[in-house]
Amino acid sequence: MIKFSEQKLAKVQEIIARYPQGKQKSALIPVLHLAQEENGWLSAETMDYVASLLQIEPIEVYEVATFYSMFNLKPVGKFLFEVCQTGPCMISGSDDIVDYIKQRLGIGVGETTADGMFTLKTVECLGACGYAPMMQLGKHYKEHLTKDRVDAIIEECRKNAGALN
Ligand code: FES
Repeated sequence: MIKFSEQKLAKVQEIIARYPQGKQKSALIPVLHLAQEENGWLSAETMDYVASLLQIEPIEVYEVATFYSMFNLKPVGKFLFEVCQTGPCMISGSDDIVDYIKQRLGIGVGETTADGMFTLKTVECLGACGYAPMMQLGKHYKEHLTKDRVDAIIEECRKNAGALN
């Protein structure tokens, strides 16, 4: 059974209070982010819990969570590569970058490596077109991607994973 800590519930109330009475649905996206922080993804059970907190229907949560690529609807690896594939990144070589990551990690788009370390996703414009091709990795943008840069990023992740364990 999914349940937020007291501290997180207080945060939910604080977010709801930003909106007019009866408009608690407006808090949905930030509350979904809080929920995703717990496990790195949103299960149906988690989304139902969020619906109950905001006193809205579960379908209203599913509609939003399935629309935005920043919400993960299945478990993801420790490191999530979200490669932009919109026009400016595409003409700067994002297809080649995606292919190279697939080959390096032995996974397809939407898949996670067997060791649970890496997940590859493709996403729409992340607003950093001037630095194309690029991807988001956690809270950071990795820009001007090349094969060498991808190798260095994978290496850096593996080192950081060692430090985290
Ligand atoms: Fe890739 Fe805008 S097109 S960041």
